Amino acid sequence: MTLNFALIGAGRIGKVHAQAVMTAIPEARIVSVADNDLPAAQSLAQTYGIPVFTHNHLEAIQQADVNAVIIASSTDTHAPFIIDAARAGRHIFCEKPIAAQLSTIDTALAAVDQAGVKLQIGFNRRFDPSFARIKQAIEGGEIGIPHLLHIISRDPGPPPVAYIRVSGGIFFDMTIHDFDMARFLFGDVEEIYAAGGVLVDPAIGEAGDIDTALITLKFANGAIGTIDNSRKAIYGYDQRVEVFGSRGSASNTNLYPDAVTISDGATVRRASLPLNFFLERYQESYRAELQAFVRAVVEDAPVPVTGQDGRVPVVMAMAAKQSYLHNRPVRLSEI
Ligand SMILES: NC(=O)c1ccc[n+]([C@@H]2O[C@H](COP(=O)([O-])OP(=O)(O)OC[C@H]3O[C@@H](n4cnc5c(N)ncnc54)[C@H](O)[C@@H]3O)[C@@H](O)[C@H]2O)c1
Repeated sequence: MTLNFALIGAGRIGKVHAQAVMTAIPEARIVSVADNDLPAAQSLAQTYGIPVFTHNHLEAIQQADVNAVIIASSTDTHAPFIIDAARAGRHIFCEKPIAAQLSTIDTALAAVDQAGVKLQIGFNRRFDPSFARIKQAIEGGEIGIPHLLHIISRDPGPPPVAYIRVSGGIFFDMTIHDFDMARFLFGDVEEIYAAGGVLVDPAIGEAGDIDTALITLKFANGAIGTIDNSRKAIYGYDQRVEVFGSRGSASNTNLYPDAVTISDGATVRRASLPLNFFLERYQESYRAELQAFVRAVVEDAPVPVTGQDGRVPVVMAMAAKQSYLHNRPVRLSEI
């Protein structure tokens, strides 16, 4: 069986997904692409020989040969497009987050249930080979009983302030991936305490957000974790995890464009900074998450990242924001 995708959104991440499907997944292809910026849809269609391009997402979804939809358009379109795709009986791969409001998420998830289609959310970091190996170390008992989790997640630079004004802030646009990683590795979180500050750029504070955060997580299994976020690490994208348990620990290092060390009379040092941002650092994971989705559809197996997995990190972001604003621990059950 060949899985035929409609792709909605031909922007930054839409291009990454198009490349993955058209160059690395032989059992799938994209047969239609929609973007309300028509030249963007047309340009992507020309790059990969996609027969249909349109400004209208419904036209792309409703092509007769389409079995599944990739939603890679702006966040506010995700929930309505999930509903449209579900009603058309298409399986759905949707970028994170599903929506900013829980009621909106629940309406979209209900439409998916009712249609009986599959929905996978784009929490790509789960498919990064290093983080997948850390998960395997936990599940295989290599670190024993999990005690502590540390996630360091620092961006090379902040997004434009205009984006911060509409993104919902750091917990929703950045930490959301780390909340998912925490759940992926250690399971459900019960309580969150977040401390935050504006240490990078006062303009971010003036826009009502913070740029630096340290978040404490209490897991249902008794383990404790931290997430350490900065919007600006001067040396580049810093993506590290350490898990520690009764039998040992597992951790990863950052990835570099080369493995070269320069040694001279004064220092021994790396010749390069870490891969600069998510498109380079997580390139392999974007391919792997779509390969997993295609496998789940073709083999009629469960998807690895469910709608519920998309919902919970939004609850965690809400809890973190409450915690930061009121300077107290917040239980997820309060949200
Ligand atoms: N998983 C990840 O690592 C990751 C990385 C980047 C972005 N994202 C998510 O992907 C989504 C897109 O982000 P991006 O960086 O690619 O943004 P982008 O602005 O580069 O692309 C979004 C595209 O959607 C199109 N669009 C907007 N409204 C539309 C509509 N009604 N119909 C059709 N097309 C429409 C825009 O014209 C644009 O081309 C966001 O939800 C973001 O959170 C996820």
